[in-house]
Amino acid sequence: MATHNFKTPILSIDEAVAVLRSGGLVALPTETVYGLAADASQEEAVKNIFKAKGRPADHPLIVHVASFEEARIWAEEIPAKAELLARHFWPGPLTMVFKKAKNINRLVTGGQETIAVRVPNQKIILEVLRKLGRGVAAPSANRFGRVSPTLPVHVLEELDGLIDGVVDGGSCQVGIESTIVDLTSDEIRLLRPGHISLVDLEKCLGEKVSVQVANAPRVPGLLKAHYAPMTPLKLIKPIFLQTEIEKYLSQSIKINVWSFEKPKMTSPLLNWVQAPLDVKDYAHKLYEQLRAFDLFGSSLTLIEKPSETDVLWSGVLDRLSRAEAHFD
Ligand code: TXA
Ligand code: MG
Repeated sequence: MATHNFKTPILSIDEAVAVLRSGGLVALPTETVYGLAADASQEEAVKNIFKAKGRPADHPLIVHVASFEEARIWAEEIPAKAELLARHFWPGPLTMVFKKAKNINRLVTGGQETIAVRVPNQKIILEVLRKLGRGVAAPSANRFGRVSPTLPVHVLEELDGLIDGVVDGGSCQVGIESTIVDLTSDEIRLLRPGHISLVDLEKCLGEKVSVQVANAPRVPGLLKAHYAPMTPLKLIKPIFLQTEIEKYLSQSIKINVWSFEKPKMTSPLLNWVQAPLDVKDYAHKLYEQLRAFDLFGSSLTLIEKPSETDVLWSGVLDRLSRAEAHFD
């Protein structure tokens, strides 16, 4: 970060707690992506999250709390199934949607009757939450519609001057946003795939979990064109990759390639990077790699499409498909 001249200060944990207490905005690391945090109980502070992100006011936020017990404050009722999930996956990259408790800040829920809550598994934000003694509302710390940040520099590239500070927790381990499940009815629904997969959820619950149809308007992560890099992106099935690359190079078009294979050719027009084969490594690298590709000045990024049948890849594939859809 030394080469940049950012105005936003890097804060210690105690400084971050003080800023949150006084109603400010702080970007905090979580195990998934950096979140833009405000004290969820302060209306003005929560309002400022929407302003800084350029996010429409009816898009609800996730409340992050230090423990399952604290989650109870935000929910009208927590079903037994949720306790089971919490025991298994919290702290961790799972967000649960409940009926909201009465008298809570409506700005957080985007005017809805439900509330999303999670206990993150990252020591810095957990310490902030414990010291603050209250929940923080925290969407991903990027401008609305853009790729989530997995390093402090990503946050500052988009939000410098619009927030009061960032706590540096290095690179986020998981790299894609939390899995979201809706527990407001008997039928448990997966709203956003992530590191915790459908199979993990079903195994823990011992029952089927249904998958919510995409493009539900109230869930921005489910808008078709979300998670967008700057460079247009195309997902290419492995068997067509070589032909596609040759097609663009023959037209003198500069391209990025993210393939599971080692580079098979070289050209000044070609920025070929080998992608991790392990899904955890792939997710960890995904947003950082998309941002790195943006810096190469290519007209297009070709990404070798990961398996469409392996449920472990569904979180990654979801983000890639939405990034691609942005340029349809
Ligand atoms: O991993 C994550 O979840 C990260 C880190 C910072 O915790 N946060 C994150 O927040 O991705 P955001 O705001 O970028 O995405 C939160 C998603 C949105 O798609 C939002 O619509 C959905 O959670 N959500 C929040 N409250 C909801 C509710 N009451 N019902 C349904 N979806 C909800
Ligand atoms: Mg987001």
